Amino acid sequence: MSEYVLETKDLGISFGGLKAVQDVNLSIKRRQLYGLVGPNGAGKTTIFNMLTGVYQPTTGTFYLEGEELKGLNQEKINHKGIARTFQNIRLFNNMSVIRNVMVGLHNQPEFKCGIVSSIFRLPSYYKTEKAMREKAKSILRIVGLEDERNNLACNLPYGKQRKLEIARALATNPKLLLLDEPAAGMNPQETADLVEIVKSIRDQFDLTVLLIEHDMKFVAGLCDEITVLNFGTVLAQGKTNDCLNDPEVVKAYLGG
Ligand SMILES: Nc1ncnc2c1ncn2[C@@H]1O[C@H](COP(=O)(O)OP(=O)(O)O)[C@@H](O)[C@H]1O
Ligand SMILES: [Mg+2]
Repeated sequence: MSEYVLETKDLGISFGGLKAVQDVNLSIKRRQLYGLVGPNGAGKTTIFNMLTGVYQPTTGTFYLEGEELKGLNQEKINHKGIARTFQNIRLFNNMSVIRNVMVGLHNQPEFKCGIVSSIFRLPSYYKTEKAMREKAKSILRIVGLEDERNNLACNLPYGKQRKLEIARALATNPKLLLLDEPAAGMNPQETADLVEIVKSIRDQFDLTVLLIEHDMKFVAGLCDEITVLNFGTVLAQGKTNDCLNDPEVVKAYLGG
């Protein structure tokens, strides 16, 4: 098996002739917490969109544990083991917190319940439902939302909605978790908590995390390696501290 969970090879995409992302090569190891940073419009979210089948790359390709996933749709890629959160939170607002997580569990074989037993509410339906509820509760516990499970998602404060998005992504049992600005809108205490939550997710779910984040303290606290993008191309790549001290990177952030 490949040493890397995720590998991208010369990944790129154009929109109407404009190259939004060009020649991005990433190699992310198992259980790594890896950062993707860069100024607004650098192409970070577009990379996530390619890795999750929202956009099809115009050049290059990518592999999950050595298996090429380019060309698959969003659902298939999720089944293969890539899950994400969104920069703009996308929750089922009028569902309870726990329901939002249970939706994510539906794609898993252990929680499949036949259509007949669902319609007629046979005992196996209630058994599956109960098992899903327990599983969802355990995921909510890890992100610190267990006590909120019966509230409506829309009634959660912003920082907690971000954590719920993570819980919902986790429910699909990913090998690779993509977090798009998970600390955006969080206060300093919530951001500090999130560092610990991401670490404990990695440990408890034995997964790999690729995250986009603007808060450099957050990135430095979590990621040993990063890739810095600017105008769709890789500006620096490697150890976090080396990259953040790179004069080209400093210049890009200060706007040249
Ligand atoms: N569907 C699209 N159509 C046209 N341009 C797009 C589309 N998606 C992204 N872009 C462009 O790609 C560039 C990178 O955007 P994005 O990946 O959202 O940046 P970041 O997440 O780094 O802030 C931007 O110039 C954006 O306008
Ligand atoms: Mg973005």
